[in-house]
Amino acid sequence: MFFPDYRPRRMRQNEQFRRMIRETTLSVDDLILPLFAINGKNVRNSISSMPGHSQMSIDNLIKEAKRAVGLGIPAVMLFGIPDKKDPVGTQAHARNGIIQKAVRELKNKVPNLLVITDVCLCQYTDHGHCGIVLPDGVIDNDSTLEILAKTALSHAEAGADMVAPSDMMDGRVGELRETLDENGFIHTPIMSYAAKYCSAFYGPFRHAAESAPKFGDRRTYQMDPANSREAIREVTMDVEEGADIIMVKPALPYLDIISRVAEEIDLPVAAYNVSGEYAMVKAAEKMGWLDGTRTMMEMLLSIKRAGADMILTYFATEAAEELARRS
Ligand code: PBG
Repeated sequence: MFFPDYRPRRMRQNEQFRRMIRETTLSVDDLILPLFAINGKNVRNSISSMPGHSQMSIDNLIKEAKRAVGLGIPAVMLFGIPDKKDPVGTQAHARNGIIQKAVRELKNKVPNLLVITDVCLCQYTDHGHCGIVLPDGVIDNDSTLEILAKTALSHAEAGADMVAPSDMMDGRVGELRETLDENGFIHTPIMSYAAKYCSAFYGPFRHAAESAPKFGDRRTYQMDPANSREAIREVTMDVEEGADIIMVKPALPYLDIISRVAEEIDLPVAAYNVSGEYAMVKAAEKMGWLDGTRTMMEMLLSIKRAGADMILTYFATEAAEELARRS
């Protein structure tokens, strides 16, 4: 006699059972909200490709941060848009640079919030690359390391709780660790953008952060989407150099990488649900093609199910509100 196994179905018959056997949950504790800081007063330049997000002057940034804390979000990730750019990204490590000022103010006015800073040069260089460009157009890995370390140190001095290098130069985690330690910041962790792919999904961010490269692309330093083993190599290097948290980016098209990293590496894993992943849901929702809220929650849950311990996402506040409604 044919005897189908009804066990899974039986356990789906009511919400209590469904809750009891649920393997993955999304919590507000998992969420990190990215924010864009710009100079000025009462500035809120909305970013058209990222509805609900803006470049904000520090006064507005504080309001947004307070709202996030009110919802229980533990951390923000800060990106800066400087007034001036030059070939070597001087404003990235200026004492009164936009990030340094924003961190000081945030730590002062919103004490219960962890402030993580993105450490990279692309927003600060006039050519838009993440490192120093040699006359032949090649990115100079080693001279970039020094500037990145200086940048991370300036963030730590301003009070950043954690620094997050996103440049993908080789050896940067070790260089940052050494510089932080030498200057007494032994307790400042490094969240490394360890497996960062050269992705079309960063489009809206580059618009938001005004950081699109003026020539070429980031293929020589960011990873090839075709590679998975290479991600393990990149991640292992960062672990050996002292990274405290490993990040995979983007998230949705790279769930297999998140899963593999979570299995093979015994450090916390972060996933960056990037600007393009956010924008496509927002666009489809606007067209009436998708239920935006349900899609958002499913997306975030799937990133956790793949193995991420935390998610950087432009949906953070919206998801936190939805989680609060559901509880
Ligand atoms: C800077 C940086 C980028 C993102 C985070 N840090 C863009 C890039 O590499 O071009 C992308 C984030 C997003 O798309 O949300 N190097």
